[in-house]
Amino acid sequence: MPGAVSPPVLSVERDAEGVAYAAAHSFWQSIDAALTERPTFRIALAGGHTPAGMYHELVRQRPTGEVWKRLQFFFGDERAVGPEHPDSNYRMAKAAIFDHAPVSPPQIHRIPGELRPLDEAARAYEKTLAGEPLDLVLLGVGADGHTASLFPDSPTLAEKSRWVLPATAPPGNAVRERLTITLPCIASAREAWFLVTGSEKARVVARIHKPGDDPPPPAALVRATRVVWFLDRAAAAGVVSL
Ligand code: 6PG
Repeated sequence: MPGAVSPPVLSVERDAEGVAYAAAHSFWQSIDAALTERPTFRIALAGGHTPAGMYHELVRQRPTGEVWKRLQFFFGDERAVGPEHPDSNYRMAKAAIFDHAPVSPPQIHRIPGELRPLDEAARAYEKTLAGEPLDLVLLGVGADGHTASLFPDSPTLAEKSRWVLPATAPPGNAVRERLTITLPCIASAREAWFLVTGSEKARVVARIHKPGDDPPPPAALVRATRVVWFLDRAAAAGVVSL
């Protein structure tokens, strides 16, 4: 049923390498299945550090193949910097995927973090997304519960229609000015996968999956037709006993 939401699936692996392998394996399984029904597969990549291991594993598992030509790469968020900046999420994905896989520039849709004003950059990326649902949104979670660049107490969390907005990260985050897809954009996706590893994330993962009285962290607000959490044992320590 369109828009039906099933409970999140938790996939717990021994360690970060296990998460990278499992997520990459599931990625290729999902794509092989989807491409029997559709010509292309639209993925929004996550930024930060955690996904890099999965991105390398994607290329290791499928270094070549026509399947790569049927993928369209987008981004869930970007820092308000250009593509060469050390903190650019696009730059991380380029180093981990695009420099090694048979992907051509027209398949890569980076968020123009260098554009100003940022709301124009956001509207430009909404045009790039063209209102077409993503097949898969990859996400990480910060220790404060943010995901993409949707931060706690941010007005971006209340957005009901825009798919891309400017955002501001709290002090202490790399590059405070951001651009991010919104909860409505993620909710329109077929699947949203979280990749979360490390003991420093155990508390926030528990807050997300065992809600108490606190306001839910932004990552807990994520809906999609199917949501999967790829966790290592350290990050899952507060939700599953192993
Ligand atoms: C970003 C990411 C952000 C990230 C989390 C977790 O641009 O930083 O979109 O949401 O996924 O901060 O980052 P780590 O994987 O580095 O812990």
